[in-house]
Amino acid sequence: KKVVLAYSGGLDTSVILQWLKETYDCEVVTFTADLGQGEELEPARAKAEALGVKEIYIEDLREEFVRDFVFPMFRANAIYEGEYLLGTSIARPLIAKRQVEIARETGADAVSHGATGKGNDQVRFELGYYGLEPNIKVIAPWREWDLLSREKLLRYAESHGISIEGKKKGGSPYSMDANLLHISYEGGILEDPWAEAEESMWRWSVAPENAPDKPTYIELTYRGGDVVAIDGEEMTPAQVLAYLNKVAGANGIGRLDIVENRYVGMKSRGCYETPGGTVMLRAHRAIESITLDREEAHLKDELMPRYASIVYNGYWWSPERRAMQALIDETQRRVNGVVRLKLYKGNVVVVGRKSEKDSLFDANIATFEDDAGAYNQKDAEGFIRLNALRLKVGAKRG
Ligand code: ARG
Ligand code: SIN
Repeated sequence: KKVVLAYSGGLDTSVILQWLKETYDCEVVTFTADLGQGEELEPARAKAEALGVKEIYIEDLREEFVRDFVFPMFRANAIYEGEYLLGTSIARPLIAKRQVEIARETGADAVSHGATGKGNDQVRFELGYYGLEPNIKVIAPWREWDLLSREKLLRYAESHGISIEGKKKGGSPYSMDANLLHISYEGGILEDPWAEAEESMWRWSVAPENAPDKPTYIELTYRGGDVVAIDGEEMTPAQVLAYLNKVAGANGIGRLDIVENRYVGMKSRGCYETPGGTVMLRAHRAIESITLDREEAHLKDELMPRYASIVYNGYWWSPERRAMQALIDETQRRVNGVVRLKLYKGNVVVVGRKSEKDSLFDANIATFEDDAGAYNQKDAEGFIRLNALRLKVGAKRG
């Protein structure tokens, strides 16, 4: 009857739009979100109108994206497989949520997306749909149609009057996805994991060797585990990330080239630029280093890989993610203070951290100078002896 399509305005989702109408004889509602990908959205409206769409949703979700998705994830210090900052993974649950809401508003009974049947994104979208609206019907054209080559897709587009400008030649050879947290590149020559990406692929950062010879110093102010000001100036979550992307990108920070394990079982090579996120991860660990208790911090670190997999695999709207988030957020109440950083030729260097009310760092206890009785070194003797007991017993047994 009616389907809400996650529509970028690009070639693929335009073909999907047309294909949905033809194949299902349904009305299509388009939903296009500004997540900070840095593209004009109005062309998407014109294209949707040209394809006969009557209900067109175009929304600026940048603040919600960073405040309710990126920031909560950064409180967990989440990284997938030791490297990936989850830039695409974290955007999907928000898109899924808005699609479901729009389906309710417009009386649509189905939702659709442009992710292929080989990737993570299909899983993330659809787990989101089902987790929020159990009876929704999902249409995944890439798993249904026979337009499986670039050639066929272009021919279909041309024969239906869909503009393919820039797509035949001159356009980017990569499958890209961008939002305020990152830009990703997959496919093309990257499908050979030995082949180095050409310098011109990277869009958000300069090469570290071309970055300025003078470092940039910045101060991030944290409140409740989130950055609320930079160099003393209050900013909204989206402003924080946009600003950090700019200064960090200019200093050659945040490039990544990895082979990762997709949830569907295959290995995939991807390149990423996450300048602001790379800075925030280091800074957040620095402010936690003085404000969190040791065991509290270590517990978070044990949970982190699990949290990252949950996000990567598309389980944002799951009970386990919500439960872990509640635990993580509870630890963040004391994560307040300022971190001072030096950005230099691809490096993020923490040079200072302070917290007026919430620091657990006690110079009086830690000092190499006379601590005036704050710490009794004699206590360490018994501490070590008891901890060594089982080692001694074991060593005697041989
Ligand atoms: N491999 C990354 C991930 O699974 C990036 C996916 C990029 N998606 C895209 N539609 N181009 O999160
Ligand atoms: C896709 O297959 O649609 C993009 C890559 C991914 O989802 O992992």
